[in-house]
Amino acid sequence: MSAPTPKTEPLLRKCVIPAAGLGTRFLPATKAIPKEMLPIVDTPTLQYIVQEAVSAGITDVILISGRGKESMIDHFDLAVELEATLKARGKEEEFRKLRAISDMVTVLSVRQKEPLGLGHAVLCARGLVGNEPFGVMLGDDMIDSEDPGIRQLARVFHQYKQGVVALMEVPDSETHLYGIAAGKEIADGVIQIDRIVEKPKRGTAPSNLAVIGRYVLPPDIFGILENQPPGVGGEIQLTDGLATLQKQQGLLGYRFKGLRYDAGDKVGYLKANIAYALKRPELRGPLLEWLGEIVKAEKP
Ligand code: G1P
Repeated sequence: MSAPTPKTEPLLRKCVIPAAGLGTRFLPATKAIPKEMLPIVDTPTLQYIVQEAVSAGITDVILISGRGKESMIDHFDLAVELEATLKARGKEEEFRKLRAISDMVTVLSVRQKEPLGLGHAVLCARGLVGNEPFGVMLGDDMIDSEDPGIRQLARVFHQYKQGVVALMEVPDSETHLYGIAAGKEIADGVIQIDRIVEKPKRGTAPSNLAVIGRYVLPPDIFGILENQPPGVGGEIQLTDGLATLQKQQGLLGYRFKGLRYDAGDKVGYLKANIAYALKRPELRGPLLEWLGEIVKAEKP
């Protein structure tokens, strides 16, 4: 897979990818491998997220990392020995693919020393983001779209000059798993949020609109997060910070266009693998044939 080229001028320069979590849902696979390095087909989930950022014109990716997760940084570095071996063996295509990854983007990283929550992870990027708008991209949420998800949000941000979160409708039975936003639709897909809550208890959600892991935020969020007391799960929640931002300067939601896979969930991860494999011409035929066979075999 080659590095995608930005289609138009950049709307955002920087994005933060929180990736300090322990990945306990994918143990034992994540005992020695960061969950962000688990592959969808043959490409780490993190690389898809970085590719989305690059396609949106983002030049600086700020990874919020944790202990034992250095392989994420290595992945975007030059692999000198491996590249030399590929060259010596005449494997030009593989060489180019590998080089494209390290040429893709500048990856900066900060350690989140304690697991104090998503809001705290974002706050760790303050020094590297500085005083400019930035994106936040959660690695568990894969968005498959011609028009990169983060870029869709960046456009809304620049048009309305307010922070924007990605929204998607979810069934009532799932609202307790997400940040949930409610408000008024002011333009096609654009919602002026008047309430946003993190993981509301069953039956108390203000709507069915779930926050999916893409955000474009003004730097003012840092001052808010700095003073944010812990919320759900005893963690400093980004959503609580967004609720304050909404009151201070307004907050928008955008029903993004594209397919979303929850790669942080086992079924979601498997679905993403199958969906992305089906998009590869060389894999599609054999995979469909096998899927047809197992579906037939499952039938009573
Ligand atoms: C996080 C956010 C939540 C958001 C979700 C999207 O939750 O806290 O507001 O809806 O990501 O995937 P997590 O899934 O990390 O528990």
